[in-house]
Amino acid sequence: MEAGFKVRIDKAVASIRAKSKSTPKLGVILGSGLSGIVDSIEGTEISYKDIEGFPVSTVHGHKGSLKIADNIIVFAGRFHFYEGYKMDDVVMPITLMKELGVEKVLLTNAAGGVNYTFEPGDLAFIIDQVNLQGTNPLIGPNNDSMGPRFPDMSEPYNKEMLDEASRIARKVLPHRTMKYGVYAGFTGPSYETPAEIRMVRAFGGDLVGMSTVPECIVANYLGMKVCGISCVTNLAAGLGHAKLDHKEVIETSKLVEKDMIGLVSGLIEYWS
Ligand code: HPA
Repeated sequence: MEAGFKVRIDKAVASIRAKSKSTPKLGVILGSGLSGIVDSIEGTEISYKDIEGFPVSTVHGHKGSLKIADNIIVFAGRFHFYEGYKMDDVVMPITLMKELGVEKVLLTNAAGGVNYTFEPGDLAFIIDQVNLQGTNPLIGPNNDSMGPRFPDMSEPYNKEMLDEASRIARKVLPHRTMKYGVYAGFTGPSYETPAEIRMVRAFGGDLVGMSTVPECIVANYLGMKVCGISCVTNLAAGLGHAKLDHKEVIETSKLVEKDMIGLVSGLIEYWS
């Protein structure tokens, strides 16, 4: 993180505090094609452009606003490294949550299915991750008041949250078999090659995507507990016949959106 990062965060917090005095305990980040979930939550909506020091989200399928209520803050639209943002920008929502009092974080994303048993339309809990982004959001001077120089990552996705989320998924989505997998994060924006997907499998990855990994690292660094859910929008490169297309990613997330809203709403009710 850059030396002036904390000052930026303080300004962003002040912008939010001017509009809401809520103290959320749960923070949610919604991935590609999933931002519609924000409409099912009641609260104060704040556009990213109205938050001082906050980057503006550009990717298609993202809304670029947050909603804050008494127990929860939801970010519809995240900042991807491939958009050209610095890592500080990518993890800004996470650090902001921490400053607002959040203890538990729910990260959602769209991902390619690497595991042979995963199909488009599946929902998968993330149990661990592999950082293939070639960088780390914590590179730079460490602010010891925020977290340790060498943070532990032996339980990146909190086991207790995973157990609770599994139980809630069985209740809310009885017709579904949830999948469990390791998420491998590349930077993108090019999709992976078939050889890269074989590498991911050899490295223990089940899911592949272009986000989430830095957010999870920083949430752990700040002492927050993380739960992750991937919507499998496509078979990873080389596994299907079709070429990969962002349109397919958005279309599949739309098809699963109803279940995803059901699940995320159930989790929000339980955790907030
Ligand atoms: N690769 C990387 N990111 C993705 C994919 C994929 O196959 N699908 C959705 N996001």
